Amino acid sequence: MKICVIGLGYVGLPLLFSLTKKFNVTGFDISKKKIDQLQNNADYTGEVSNKKLKKINFNVTNKKSELKNFDVYIVCVPTPVFKNKNPNLNFIKQSSKIVGNAIKGSKLKPVIVLESTVYPGCSEEICIPIIEKYSNLKLNKEFYFGYSPERINPGISKHKLNNTTKIISSSEKTSLKKLKKIYRSITKKIYVAQNIKTAEAAKVIENIQRDLNIALMNELSMIFNRIDINTKDVLKAAATKWNFSNYEPGLVGGHCIGVDPYYMSYLTKKIGLNKNNMILAGRKTNEYMNNFIIKNLFRLIRLKGMKLKKSKILILGYTFKENCNDVRNSKILEIFKQLKNKVDKVDLFDPIARNDQELIYFKKNILRKLDYKKKYNAVILAVKHDYFIKMNVKKILSLCDNNKLFFDLKGVFDKSYSVFRL
Ligand SMILES: NC(=O)c1ccc[n+]([C@@H]2O[C@H](COP(=O)([O-])OP(=O)(O)OC[C@H]3O[C@@H](n4cnc5c(N)ncnc54)[C@H](O)[C@@H]3O)[C@@H](O)[C@H]2O)c1
Repeated sequence: MKICVIGLGYVGLPLLFSLTKKFNVTGFDISKKKIDQLQNNADYTGEVSNKKLKKINFNVTNKKSELKNFDVYIVCVPTPVFKNKNPNLNFIKQSSKIVGNAIKGSKLKPVIVLESTVYPGCSEEICIPIIEKYSNLKLNKEFYFGYSPERINPGISKHKLNNTTKIISSSEKTSLKKLKKIYRSITKKIYVAQNIKTAEAAKVIENIQRDLNIALMNELSMIFNRIDINTKDVLKAAATKWNFSNYEPGLVGGHCIGVDPYYMSYLTKKIGLNKNNMILAGRKTNEYMNNFIIKNLFRLIRLKGMKLKKSKILILGYTFKENCNDVRNSKILEIFKQLKNKVDKVDLFDPIARNDQELIYFKKNILRKLDYKKKYNAVILAVKHDYFIKMNVKKILSLCDNNKLFFDLKGVFDKSYSVFRL
């Protein structure tokens, strides 16, 4: 079976490498730069080490002409939102066109599988008609369509492709067999959803639920900070009840949790259901957390009798989540922008963040390594990277001046060391 993985990012690349062990697989990405990097054995997602890459025999291309005659195409392209928060379906549309053209005239009855997160109904409304148009083939007669959402958690995480349940669905029963064979080569845990829409909905609600739960924790954290009790202590006590769900307060950045609720709210508006009070309810609170942190920072700086305009701040960690090198939509980088003109200096340090285009703006403020001779008026530990957890807290505190304004946002160290945590 010949498989083509389309879109080689955080989702597509690990999939390509997993499938390569069992099948004849080609990876396609429109970005020539990414293909060049991969051909030079550099995985920019950080998921596979350069050393490991050298040992894997893989095939990648950015040439559309090389996309013919595959049995299966698995599409893993981005699904962001526009500035107005409407879904940006351009990548989905473009990749559907590419696949449509690629399967034109195919007698292989290919299966196209979408892995990107979308709203329920998107595959049938957007992808399938485009593929039919450009291929001149008919769904369920000359090609099949499946949806299998990705649930990996990039970074040092126990949730990997091979131990996470994979939901699969298809437009037609016999093509499911092919999908089962493919995905069973990666994980033993397969769940067949009733249909494509159900599988699409299952994925998007996972992230909506998470967004809402984190928002609740954030709101509680703001209350507990005001009444001077520790959020972690409260959550630890509450978790002793058998049905209390564990969530932590935090900054919601990235391109999934903070984005996916807008896909669902787009659908609800489209189908004329305007009573979707819950779906976006967490967004406002989660978006406000930057301001909450900054307000507390400024309050404490002033309380110590320091002038804001003269203060120097160090931020430790600026990826959008722990142990992952991805800086897209990082809330910490937003905090940096909010602070930049209000204080004298803000330095950024992250031992694992990837050197992304997005970082050009911050270049002058990014430290390659920490200089322990330097003293800052406040230090913010923003991301719970293993690197920081393993660091001695005394070393971090030695970067603070005598006021010891240490913000441990995620409560990495004992609460006695910090003046603020969420
Ligand atoms: N990253 C995650 O943790 C994660 C987890 C689960 C689901 N998802 C979802 O998976 C999808 C992909 O996410 P990602 O993080 O891998 O994105 P990414 O930005 O890391 O990678 C997407 C890749 O697709 C390429 N691309 C864009 N348009 C293309 C086209 N027309 N043809 C070929 N390649 C194209 C881009 O160049 C890029 O390399 C999104 O819908 C996302 O919401 C992501």
